[in-house]
Amino acid sequence: MTVAFSLDELPSFAHRFWQAVKDTNVFLFYGEMGAGKTTLIEALCAAKGVKERMGSPTFSIINQYAYRENGEEKLIYHIDLYRLKDEEEIIQAGVEDCVYSGAICMIEWPQKAPGLFDNNVANVFIEPIDSTHRRVKIERPGGSMTEQL
Ligand SMILES: Nc1ncnc2c1ncn2[C@@H]1O[C@H](COP(=O)(O)OP(=O)(O)OP(=O)(O)O)[C@@H](O)[C@H]1O
Ligand SMILES: [Mg+2]
Repeated sequence: MTVAFSLDELPSFAHRFWQAVKDTNVFLFYGEMGAGKTTLIEALCAAKGVKERMGSPTFSIINQYAYRENGEEKLIYHIDLYRLKDEEEIIQAGVEDCVYSGAICMIEWPQKAPGLFDNNVANVFIEPIDSTHRRVKIERPGGSMTEQL
């Protein structure tokens, strides 16, 4: 099952996403160039209360954002593997450290490092419907999450 949302609906979709997906910290985003991975990740960060303006991590591989939860300062890593060559380069960039830090990690182009992630991730597939609508499917090892959104 899949969920569709427009740009306008993105903030409310992002809130529902966090309510539905709670038992992992690693989110892998699949979708072609321009599908809307970065845009969705920005909305998910905003829904967590990230305050600073976010950009695509096109020039830095790893972007780090802070938010507060239950009175604690927490981190989100937004990582784009697109321009990295192979798993070795990806590990050298510090991606593995982020993944095992326990902080929320949202990763674009995870296909670049298939060996880096264990089963306890959420796979998020996004595809364009038209210029303002996107279709999303979320899969966890136990099955699809999308019907809970
Ligand atoms: N419902 C929607 N959700 C997300 N993005 C949308 C939506 N409707 C339109 N868009 C637009 O689609 C574009 C998606 O670009 P974005 O940079 O998020 O893609 P991407 O998947 O991260 O691409 P890349 O692989 O190049 O990093 C943006 O211009 C965004 O405004
Ligand atoms: Mg992107």
